[in-house]
Amino acid sequence: MTLILGLETSCDETSAAVVADGRTVLSNIISSQIDLHQRYGGVVPEIASRKHIENVMPVVHQALAEAGATLADIDAIGVTYGPGLVGALLVGVATAKALSFAAGKRLVGVNHLEGHVFANFLAAADLAPPLIALIVSGGHTSLVKLADYNTFRLLGQTRDDAAGEAFDKVARVLRLPYPGGPEIEKLAAQGNPEAIAFPRALSGSGCEFSFSGLKSAVLNHLNAARQRGDTVNEADVAASFQAAVVDVLSAKTVQAAREAGIDKVALAGGVAANGRLRAELAARCADHKISLHYPPPVYCTDNAAMIACRAHYQHLAGCWAGLDLNAVPSLKL
Ligand code: KG4
Ligand code: ZN
Repeated sequence: MTLILGLETSCDETSAAVVADGRTVLSNIISSQIDLHQRYGGVVPEIASRKHIENVMPVVHQALAEAGATLADIDAIGVTYGPGLVGALLVGVATAKALSFAAGKRLVGVNHLEGHVFANFLAAADLAPPLIALIVSGGHTSLVKLADYNTFRLLGQTRDDAAGEAFDKVARVLRLPYPGGPEIEKLAAQGNPEAIAFPRALSGSGCEFSFSGLKSAVLNHLNAARQRGDTVNEADVAASFQAAVVDVLSAKTVQAAREAGIDKVALAGGVAANGRLRAELAARCADHKISLHYPPPVYCTDNAAMIACRAHYQHLAGCWAGLDLNAVPSLKL
């Protein structure tokens, strides 16, 4: 059995996990800072870094204890080294390096986005590449092809805002709390998704996305209605906005899978927790005999189990890092 200790501190979650053989989660401790950042309407990097420093070792100890393991039992330590907030990433990287040096364990540097894709392997024991993954998080919207466990190819990404970012910004103008995605989803459940025809940008342009025009369209709609003195049906706005995002994401993902001749699609990232996205994509995949996979919600948002899973396959391939591993805030796929 191979045991990996994973560490994740790229944004506002301090997380440590122990995963066996890349698939079995023995522990996955997540200490969220959302309540600290909520009053500012977004993550404050300085506060995040300080909180990670306080939380990281207690979270590591708890992850080991829950897994019934000690550091001596661990085969390798996997840590997110980018992309993310530099100060936040540095806490995880410095901690992983110190543990690796002190205990004489291999160190693996993990790309956070690859970790999100690998969250799918935690939930489905038989799932294996090749697959097409749609990564939809607060910072990224990308379509990638995973040819084998260690070969990623970026097919396309957003030209401006990420899908999650659009959810968060629209939530803010609707005066909903941060993070906005789950709040919009809740409100949208009471609205009509066909009430307002918001734009579907770049419909014909392959794997590229754009969400900033949609965000402006929502803002313009609200401003115009408020100026006229109309009462705005905010549930209809949320539902129509969500429908526009989901429509574009689903159509492009299915198209990418068909063009690549791949019959497996995996969803990754925080927005993958969205029920309407899952349902819509499931229906469109079924039409083309494509199987759809998505992690349970706890593995969709930031967590260290997905990082340990990714690290497992890098460890098997001998892709280790040295003690010169550094945080790379704008790390690409
Ligand atoms: O992957 P993640 O936890 O952090 C990043 O790496 O960015 O994603 C966070 C994003 C936020 O923008 C949040 O609003 C969005 O995921 N999100 C959702 C839902 N749950 C989280 N968006 C839509 N529907 C949801 N249910
Ligand atoms: Zn993430």
